[in-house]
Amino acid sequence: MTDNKFFVTTPIYYVNDVPHIGHVCTTVMADIIARYHRQKKEEVFFLTGTDEHGQKIAEEAEKEKLSPQEFCDKISPRFETAWRSLNISFDYFIRTTDLRHKKIVSEVLAKIYDKGDVYKGKYEGYYCVGCEKFLTEADMVDNKCPLHPPEKTAFRSEDNWFFKLSKYVPRLIELIENDKTNYIYPAGKRKEILTKLKAGVRDVSISRENVKWGIPLPWDEKQITYVWFDALLNYYSATQFLENRKGFWPAGLHLVGKEISWFHTVIWQAMLLSVELALPKKVFIHSFYTIDGQKMSKSLGNVISPEKLVEIFEVDGARYLIASSFPAENDVDVGIDRFKEKYNADLANNLGNLVSRVAKLAEGMVIEQKEITFDKEFEKLFDSYKISELINLIFEKYINISNEKLNQVGPWKLEKSDPKRIDVLKFCINNLKIIAYNLRPIMPEVSEKIGKCLDNQVMPLQNILFNRIK
Ligand code: MSP
Repeated sequence: MTDNKFFVTTPIYYVNDVPHIGHVCTTVMADIIARYHRQKKEEVFFLTGTDEHGQKIAEEAEKEKLSPQEFCDKISPRFETAWRSLNISFDYFIRTTDLRHKKIVSEVLAKIYDKGDVYKGKYEGYYCVGCEKFLTEADMVDNKCPLHPPEKTAFRSEDNWFFKLSKYVPRLIELIENDKTNYIYPAGKRKEILTKLKAGVRDVSISRENVKWGIPLPWDEKQITYVWFDALLNYYSATQFLENRKGFWPAGLHLVGKEISWFHTVIWQAMLLSVELALPKKVFIHSFYTIDGQKMSKSLGNVISPEKLVEIFEVDGARYLIASSFPAENDVDVGIDRFKEKYNADLANNLGNLVSRVAKLAEGMVIEQKEITFDKEFEKLFDSYKISELINLIFEKYINISNEKLNQVGPWKLEKSDPKRIDVLKFCINNLKIIAYNLRPIMPEVSEKIGKCLDNQVMPLQNILFNRIK
């Protein structure tokens, strides 16, 4: 892989649910990072999609009296449509029911088998269908999964195939402890994973006897591949079955929520070590949104949909709010009312007002063209995915200062030829160009509009950038 290639992924979302703000936050963040790398002239491959096999999906399909495939065909496009409506620049939308993906899953599993990394055993323990996960003591509260309704946890005892995860633990510890090969970000999560690895890890069951909806194991067709073994492989399979994408492996960045970090930092790496494939360079584990102080849930009815966000805040407004409230290290509480306040304060009253004032006052002014690149300080924040800090800094360094200066000098009171008026407008125009360039990955359309009205000769805005919301 040349240094110029960058492969970024989101988790592939389960189709038992329709898109919500939790899915939106990971996807918007991945899009911002993808756009940032494209703006730096890198060759980017941005992959997202849907996770369609397993018991959970089969049960949901049955409730709707559809075949699992019909059910997936109905829900999966809702994710694709949601991402298009948010201007998500994904290069490919993968579905795990795609035959090309299934073929690669079978091939990889056969290799793991040939390596001698699987054995038949008895699985006994609790399983949460909500997580599609075998629960350890530490995962449970009163023998139930705390993340899902209690009826989703059930005791299971069946013959399964197991993957020798424990065999790869020493190697994983070594990789994570070495600063050069550590792939877990941020540092707090790295520590958590290391502690868990060092505490001892059991082998993992990779097949299900009683689940029908999935990919049969190549060496034992009565057993269906555990949905996570199938799903994780999407990241690799897409690079193999699509044309001209092979050079993008290994992934540069997997973005995932904290609840699925173990799969992405331990199980996935062990699978890749088993088949001797290169490991992803980074896994960025983020925290969660809560909504008005509560966990988001269908039963509470507090779920925020992407449609609602776009309807109220339009595309770039929604992207901005997601980026500025992104739950990086800690959970972040959000709500529509607070979003409205932030939108009005930052976008309508501050940035929007600045652009419209400057474009109007400076109409006709000829601008000297300078090449702009990412500000070094901002680049650092993009590279560490600290997008809300980046936004604050852009406001501090360029937006607030421009508005303050405008208010101080009051160019509207001065003659057009007054050097003080010309100076302050030049200062603001220069800042706006920097703002538009650095905000482009976050608000691509708005940035383009700002750029256009400040191109060569200043033109007033065609339409107001951000309408105030009541
Ligand atoms: N299908 C698996 C992932 C397989 S990847 C090989 C899955 N799907 S999911 O539909 O449940 O999506 C989980 C992801 O949605 C989380 O990792 C996170 O990215 C996002 N979020 C879900 N709820 C969230 C919040 N409340 N807050 C922020 N993000 C959350 O797990």
